[in-house]
Amino acid sequence: MQNVFELTHPLAAHHLSILRDVSTTPAQFRTQIHLLAMLLAVRATDDLGLEPSQVQTPLTQMTGNRLAQRIGIVPILRAGLGLVEPVLQLIPDAAVWHLGMYRDEATAQPVEYYCKLPAGNAVDVGLVLDPMLATGGSIRAAVLALKRWGVQDIRVLSVLAAKQGVEQFHQDFPEVKVFVAGIDPELNAHKFIVPGLGDAGDRMFNSQRD
Ligand code: PRP
Repeated sequence: MQNVFELTHPLAAHHLSILRDVSTTPAQFRTQIHLLAMLLAVRATDDLGLEPSQVQTPLTQMTGNRLAQRIGIVPILRAGLGLVEPVLQLIPDAAVWHLGMYRDEATAQPVEYYCKLPAGNAVDVGLVLDPMLATGGSIRAAVLALKRWGVQDIRVLSVLAAKQGVEQFHQDFPEVKVFVAGIDPELNAHKFIVPGLGDAGDRMFNSQRD
């Protein structure tokens, strides 16, 4: 999978294991998501274009750099919200475009409930944020929305993917780079990632239903 990149940094493996742990509290879960999102964002943006910019230091003038491309952060609600703040810390001038999507429990198909992307003037680079890529249906729908908008360079940042889902996504969109902290071997009968980390949205927002 040429455009699928799994983080190899030991900190990613360390923090992903804490995230998976059933005894990790919602507060700690949010912290782990934050840290992993930063690691993903650094890796996913290491080839962004720069342009020269003049800087006055306390000592002299010099030619520095600033980002040359317009960057859009596209979190998939709800769980993608947990990745927004860390990515914005690294790219404070990015635009944030929320996409509302939930997975129908019976069919596992994504249902879109919020999308306010404008008609034109697309960003140059779109970073799709969602902690989970299970079947890949939600991220697929987000990528299609960004393509309709006209985004040329789309990158997916997802904490954990299922092998089957990421393989299918890569087959459908070989040009889209996917950055993950881990790839798990299985989807269970309910299309949950196994071993996985449970329902990221519910754990992040402490909203498990009995
Ligand atoms: C989860 C997750 C992804 C999606 C992954 O969201 O956050 O968006 O499912 O599954 P897929 O790859 O098979 O599409 P969920 O539907 O639980 O919504 P939530 O974020 O509001 O909890």
